[in-house]
Amino acid sequence: MPQIYQASVTAPVNIAVIKYWGKRCTKLNLPTNSSLSVALSQENLRTLTTASCSEQFDKDILWLNGSEENVASNSRLIICIENLRLLRSRVEKENPGSQTLSKMNLHIVSENNFPTAAGLASSAAGFAALVYAIANLYKLPQSEIQLSRIARQGSGSACRSLFGGYTSWEMGNNDDGSDSQAQQVATKSHWPDMKAAILIISAAKKGVSSTSGMQATVATSTLFTYRAQHIVPIRMQEMKKAIAARDFQSFAELTIKDSNQFHAVCLDTMPPIFYLNDTSRYIIRLAEELNRVAGKYVAAYTFDAGPNAVLYYLSENTQLVLGLFRECYRKAKGWSSDARPCVPEGFNLG
Ligand code: PMV
Repeated sequence: MPQIYQASVTAPVNIAVIKYWGKRCTKLNLPTNSSLSVALSQENLRTLTTASCSEQFDKDILWLNGSEENVASNSRLIICIENLRLLRSRVEKENPGSQTLSKMNLHIVSENNFPTAAGLASSAAGFAALVYAIANLYKLPQSEIQLSRIARQGSGSACRSLFGGYTSWEMGNNDDGSDSQAQQVATKSHWPDMKAAILIISAAKKGVSSTSGMQATVATSTLFTYRAQHIVPIRMQEMKKAIAARDFQSFAELTIKDSNQFHAVCLDTMPPIFYLNDTSRYIIRLAEELNRVAGKYVAAYTFDAGPNAVLYYLSENTQLVLGLFRECYRKAKGWSSDARPCVPEGFNLG
């Protein structure tokens, strides 16, 4: 009976506070600007992936949350697997007599511990876990930073899910993507008081995929060009400084402004892209009002390519922030019927 080789890993969901939006190369997922994200706690949100290979497997198969995916039609998945096989074949060449795992088919089982239907970006954690699991299976010597270049080709933001805590994706200059990679800016324990909560407003799948949205933005928005060239480079520096100094006021202001500018850029796209809905805008108004009454930033909101909100706040303000949003959630009338009944518990960071 041929042996089965196996490795399992988990990867966290990450939520950007300086947004990635725009590709300078679609094939390699090379971005038009750098970005920075925070990983959420794996207790609440993570992908668990087991990769195995064996001579007895007759084709590559991926099971995603229990259902079989068509590997052959998923070109991004194929690119990731091919890159990893190539690295493994080098290991095999350098170590004659080692198992030729690169020649065996793969069986990959990937599970999220949160409902995929929750409308949260799951592809980032998914591709990061897949790349990391296969790299472990193949016992590759590459670092997480090097592996992030492979995960990036699966889904851009996946490169940031190879790390916990605070992670930047440096856009790089090279045309071949060899310097477009993620690196950790700070660990989770660097800022123990930082908390996050997710407000699920709609579980519906987003109307415009991030890839087609980005392509339309790059082709038509002038605001986007200004943002990518003149605003994001400064914000990246300021955000890194705010995190290093555990300065929540600067962190919150930058997070809020960057989320709003990302959605402004979507609106500046032709035809315009709307990811926020009335409930999202209601949450923005509520957070703005909370911060105004407090006379400082208490809650920082951010929205990805969909209507769901992520709030960042300090643990000392947990009662205030979650209390207010829970109460409004309870009272809100006319919210999307698939909205969750209440704000989930505050999450620790991953
Ligand atoms: O990695 P993608 O193709 O799913 O794009 C992610 C885009 C945003 O979530 C809106 C921003 C980001 O930096 O994660």
